[in-house]
Amino acid sequence: MPARKLAVVILAAGKGSRMKSDLPKVLHPVAGKAMLWHVQASVATLSPEETVVVIAPGMADVEAAAAPSRCAVQQQAMGTGHAVAAAREALEPLLGLVETDVLVVFGDTPLLTPATLQRMVAARAEPAAPDIVGLAFRPQDPAQYGRVILDDDQKIEKIVEYADADSAQRQIGLCNAGIVIGSGRRLFELIDRLDSHNAQGEYYLTDIFGLAHQEGRPAGVVEGPVAEVLGVNSRQDLALAEAAMQDRLRRQAMADGATLIDPATVWLSADTRLGRDVTVHPSVFFGPGVTVGDDVEIRSFCHLEGAKVADGAVLGPFARLRPGARIGAGAHVGNFVEIKNAELGAGAKANHLSYLGDASVGPAANIGAGTITCNYDGFAKHHTAIGAGAFIGSNTALVAPVAVGAGAIVGAGSTITQDVPQDALAVERSDQEVREGRAARFRQERQAAKDAKQG
Ligand code: UD1
Ligand code: CA
Repeated sequence: MPARKLAVVILAAGKGSRMKSDLPKVLHPVAGKAMLWHVQASVATLSPEETVVVIAPGMADVEAAAAPSRCAVQQQAMGTGHAVAAAREALEPLLGLVETDVLVVFGDTPLLTPATLQRMVAARAEPAAPDIVGLAFRPQDPAQYGRVILDDDQKIEKIVEYADADSAQRQIGLCNAGIVIGSGRRLFELIDRLDSHNAQGEYYLTDIFGLAHQEGRPAGVVEGPVAEVLGVNSRQDLALAEAAMQDRLRRQAMADGATLIDPATVWLSADTRLGRDVTVHPSVFFGPGVTVGDDVEIRSFCHLEGAKVADGAVLGPFARLRPGARIGAGAHVGNFVEIKNAELGAGAKANHLSYLGDASVGPAANIGAGTITCNYDGFAKHHTAIGAGAFIGSNTALVAPVAVGAGAIVGAGSTITQDVPQDALAVERSDQEVREGRAARFRQERQAAKDAKQG
């Protein structure tokens, strides 16, 4: 028998009405990435020949998020079985081959892991494997999940949706996770025979199990971990999925060699990369797109997104790295420093109260407290270049576009509007006037006036 080929269908056309949102359900983020992204990432580890995301008409934003997966449009949300049928045309060439398996997953189960999907694929690879295999789980509270009814051979007799279940069936603890794998041809043959004579008037994908059993070709079942198959239908479910994902990401970060002093207060994105011997202090936020090298210390209350931090850097407390921040090896970013689309060279320091935007700061440069790059003129952004080893005095405004050469010194309080050559000293401030004894005289005069009034 030729090796099995795999096609994947991700269902994402549902209205998601229980979310009460203008954003399509599968675009709601978990750990900073759309639920659909998580499902796609897990599915991609199976290296399928094709992945088709089923969307509703007008879901251009889901289609854009789904790329490079193809999308198929389900014209009307008429149920999960109807949704899979919408993917048929896109899969047609693969369905021409007997060895093609189709895996159906829901776009609203972001916690699903590659390991569980592998078990589904493996269940189809066994000799005398059933044509169809469903994924089931036993949640503590089965709530409104479909119930899986097994026959005496532990094959699936049928799946009953909660809305259609009688009170005895609702007592069953084994629930349908919604994930199905099966011979592509067989799956679509069964889907063709679905009807919508049920409580919700929908074409349920779950009805294929009863049909298969009636024909004497019952489906097999794989029982998966509860934690992975949570279907997100409401904002509460979303929060549960977020908590579970955070727990997973924190464990992974620690397993990879980072110290999280108080893990529960560190928020990670699905794509956060932390190196070895990174220490993260309590209360740190990692938005999407952050990569941190080895031996980095991130102190409390830092907020990072889209940033790259090289080995040995020290951040915070209270540092803010925005997209395009690139912190060099051993550099220091201190409290109330905001860095956006700017590079801080190796060993450079910006220790207090600064804004560095659209800038490049050379190695070992020192950025004094209160330094601001004035990068925006109300219309466009402009670049500031600061050379290696330059020293920018406190409270300097650098009006971009402007360059300060390597080794140059800018005196505190300067507003720099012209380039400063290498190794030059630039000071821009009015001359200081000193009047000896004038302060003392001022106080005497005022006190005398006050005494005269009161006396
Ligand atoms: C579904 C299962 C239920 C299972 C549960 C697990 C069915 C009939 N029911 O119920 O047995 O316990 O998932 O989470 O399969 N979708 C479409 N088009 C549609 C309808 C749905 O694309 O016409 C998509 C949704 O976007 C969603 C997925 O299919 O990603 C599941 O639909 P949803 O309505 O959430 O099904 P549940 O009621 O949760
Ligand atoms: Ca659901």
